[in-house]
Amino acid sequence: MNKKHNYDLPSINLARKRSLERSPIERELFVIPDECKNIGKGKKYFLRTYGCQANQRDSETIAGILEHLGYEAVDDLNKADLILLNTCAIRKNAEDKVYGELGALKKLKRESPELIIAMGGCMAQEEGAVQEILHKYPQVDLLFGTHNIYNLPKLLFDAVKKHEKVVEVFSRQGEVYENLPTRRFLKHKAWVNIAYGCDKFCTYCIVPYTRGKERSRLLDDIVDEVKTLVKEGYKEVCLLGQNVNAYGRDLNMEHGFATLLAAVAESGIKRLRFMTSHPWNFDDETIAVIAKYPNIMPYIHLPLQSGNDEILKKMNRRYSQKEYLELFDKLKKAIPGCAFTTDIIVGFPNESKEAFNDTLKVVDYCKFDNAFTFIFSPREGTPAYNMEDTISMEEKEERLQILNHKVADYALMHNKRFEGQTVEVLVDGISKRNKEVYSGYTPENKLVNFTGRQVEIGSLVKVKINSAMSFSLNGELVEE
Ligand code: 5AD
Ligand code: SF4
Repeated sequence: MNKKHNYDLPSINLARKRSLERSPIERELFVIPDECKNIGKGKKYFLRTYGCQANQRDSETIAGILEHLGYEAVDDLNKADLILLNTCAIRKNAEDKVYGELGALKKLKRESPELIIAMGGCMAQEEGAVQEILHKYPQVDLLFGTHNIYNLPKLLFDAVKKHEKVVEVFSRQGEVYENLPTRRFLKHKAWVNIAYGCDKFCTYCIVPYTRGKERSRLLDDIVDEVKTLVKEGYKEVCLLGQNVNAYGRDLNMEHGFATLLAAVAESGIKRLRFMTSHPWNFDDETIAVIAKYPNIMPYIHLPLQSGNDEILKKMNRRYSQKEYLELFDKLKKAIPGCAFTTDIIVGFPNESKEAFNDTLKVVDYCKFDNAFTFIFSPREGTPAYNMEDTISMEEKEERLQILNHKVADYALMHNKRFEGQTVEVLVDGISKRNKEVYSGYTPENKLVNFTGRQVEIGSLVKVKINSAMSFSLNGELVEE
């Protein structure tokens, strides 16, 4: 606690702590304190989300709370009484986007001093970022952490009615909230949290600090949520966790994720996905469940990060190149036609040319359908932040280019195999670029743009693929 301001500031040292105790589950009805009721009545909010699916899902909760308070969503930030940024801290460029946006908002705040600018998400959990915002971005009225969303009514009340700067960021290990309102952004696809936080502590990663201890929701709560979604007409559910394979470990479940996945697959949902898998916890039981249920989509995102054993060790990834490849082979054999994507970091501190070549070798072996590639970004408070690094940024950028070319080549190779085939597409909407074109995804998570008669968003349709590009397929609707 900062005495001068009465702020609850984040602390990286506190955020590092992990106890063996089970995380508390909050189930009591979400009650808005009397004084906060209707503070959003007649007012508009603009919410922008950065980063991963966990943040997208949190934004649905934030929107749910705001709408409970009477706020109405707007797409134009100039019309908003409340602008809320749900931020990401994974790499410096994610943060720079937010600083840029905050800079642009300064003028708006000057013109309308009643405007409330709020910032939540992973950046708010970072000690350094919060100090920077407090010192250099006075236009921010409210800073709240990933563990403080439940308290948004009270925090907003203080900011709106008391005209105070409000900062509440807890660095505790975190709870499991079952009682918060949600406003889902889509009507056909839903994110469903299965576990929060992360205990892996990969040395480059800020997530274990910004999102707290690994804590699983109870299986029944998850299955009930999915059953409700099925009743509401949802076609696809994606189970979310920083590391889904660790699901249930904190509940002393054996083969927790395999058990959960099977239970959810039985719920009647048409398409089931999950994100993200860590190779280290991927057990045979889970592989068998994926292979067994046709409604579990043949698509696995399996972050590699590096193909070199020494770097993997320095990253604290807990697997070797050989182990990764063994798992990959097992999955490929068990799940025919399965698409694989991955995450790769280039330029980890002192990554040698040989080490980088090992990563390329793994890419050549696995021939991923796609890969999300990043240059290492030092995150303050993580062990890798202090590691010696003599590799120049120029060299790192060159490596990224080489890797990206390879990734695009394999992506195209995979997409080519769909040419002439008819695939099933879950329609997401009209393409951003061309109003006559629809877009959606195949079971393998391939983006398809297609033409034909009008179709409903959220319907499952057949599309004949005419041409393939590296990162999308083009086709025509097939009448059935
Ligand atoms: N620098 C670069 N990439 C990172 N990632 C996580 N932390 C960092 C970092 N400090 C990447 C990893 C992870 C993905 C979500 O982001 O590849 O899997
Ligand atoms: Fe998601 Fe990680 Fe970014 Fe937080 S830091 S929003 S958990 S990607």
